Amino acid sequence: MEPAAAPRSCARGSLLFLALLCGSALLSAQFTVVGPADPLLAMLGENATFRCHLSPEKNAEAMEVRWLRTRFSPAVLVYKGGRERTEEQVEEYRGRTTFASEDIQKGSVALTVHNVTAHDNGVYRCYFQEGRSYAEAVLRLLVAARTKDLLG
Ligand SMILES: *[C@@H]1O[C@H](CO)[C@@H](O)[C@H](O)[C@H]1NC(C)=O
Ligand SMILES: *[C@@H]1O[C@H](CO)[C@@H](O)[C@H](O)[C@H]1NC(C)=O
Repeated sequence: MEPAAAPRSCARGSLLFLALLCGSALLSAQFTVVGPADPLLAMLGENATFRCHLSPEKNAEAMEVRWLRTRFSPAVLVYKGGRERTEEQVEEYRGRTTFASEDIQKGSVALTVHNVTAHDNGVYRCYFQEGRSYAEAVLRLLVAARTKDLLG
């Protein structure tokens, strides 16, 4: 006898398959998120600012905005319901971030990570969600050290 296969297909299927089978997937949005094309460079201990904006220009005040490292990891920063949600922020970034939302009505936001560490090196996702529609941009941070930092 074959064991029931449906739940396993849900877990294993492609994204389209998941959307069709499981019915709760998010939809691609009518907007895109634009981030810097080139990697950002920051020295150890400095601040790094990630900017991203919606295209076409669109008010994002009522949207959910997240910065993530990987898609399913806890968030570096969450903005939702018109405010920052520090309770959803992963421990290692608490007290180390500033969210600039003065241009959010134009769909433009920025996240500054202070006192950059080697661990901050890598990929970040800038994710916008409106209802069930979402879009994201992928940014890269390169953390460099000065020789004197390496030598202590
Ligand atoms: C980095 O951020 C801190 C905290 O906001 C600030 O005091 C400092 O001046 C910033 N450093 C630079 C180089 O902008
Ligand atoms: C920056 O991070 C280093 C290493 O975690 C820490 O020792 C230092 O106190 C931090 N500096 C500031 C200004 O937070």
